[in-house]
Amino acid sequence: MIKIAPSILAADPLNLEKDIRVAEKAGCDWIHVDIMDAHFVPNLAYSVDTVRRLREITSLPLDVHLMMDHPETLLDAFLDAGASCLTIHAEIDSDIPGMLDKIRQRGRMAGIALKPNSPLTLLEPIIEQADLVLMMTVEPGFGGQKLDARVIGKIRSLKDSGYAGEIEADGGIREDNIEMLAANGLSVAVMGTALFRNSDMAACIERIHQMPAGQ
Ligand code: DX5
Ligand code: ZN
Repeated sequence: MIKIAPSILAADPLNLEKDIRVAEKAGCDWIHVDIMDAHFVPNLAYSVDTVRRLREITSLPLDVHLMMDHPETLLDAFLDAGASCLTIHAEIDSDIPGMLDKIRQRGRMAGIALKPNSPLTLLEPIIEQADLVLMMTVEPGFGGQKLDARVIGKIRSLKDSGYAGEIEADGGIREDNIEMLAANGLSVAVMGTALFRNSDMAACIERIHQMPAGQ
């Protein structure tokens, strides 16, 4: 079954708890929390305190996506705040192996994210340390963009490589393109706009949960 992680970037920031309850009731599996530093991406989003408060109000796994150039500065803070999965970008110039190690030592899932134009080869030195690979299907920084279908081929190649961790995709995912992603190996779908602008989130989640996953 495909796991669904609603991205709170598309939620109402002034009514976050209400939207989390809607997502829980609708049957979502994880909560995707975008953190942006206005440097790695041209946008700013959420904080350690958001993760801390989300941990206090929901038992769903918190899938924290660090779109930051220097995540090492806040890694311990996000771990202390209760992140379940911490994903860092393969494109940054930091000690990625050291950070993935630290995340795992704290008993959480270590994720590595790849932008649409970044080659899979960027993962080679670190793939053994990744419990999850996040394939960006849009250029990171903003919700509501159109899915870049070229990334489907990267998802297929990663699946065919025998990678046994979670294969997550993020950006522009909707009900009318998720089946193609699932048929090529997707196991976790991040969905922001398509869920929080949906008049019947539960029905949408129900249909997606019926789809075969990760072949
Ligand atoms: C973009 C974020 C995504 C985004 C997904 O940089 O990483 O998580 O919020 O939103 P939609 O599903 O609206 O593209
Ligand atoms: Zn994200």
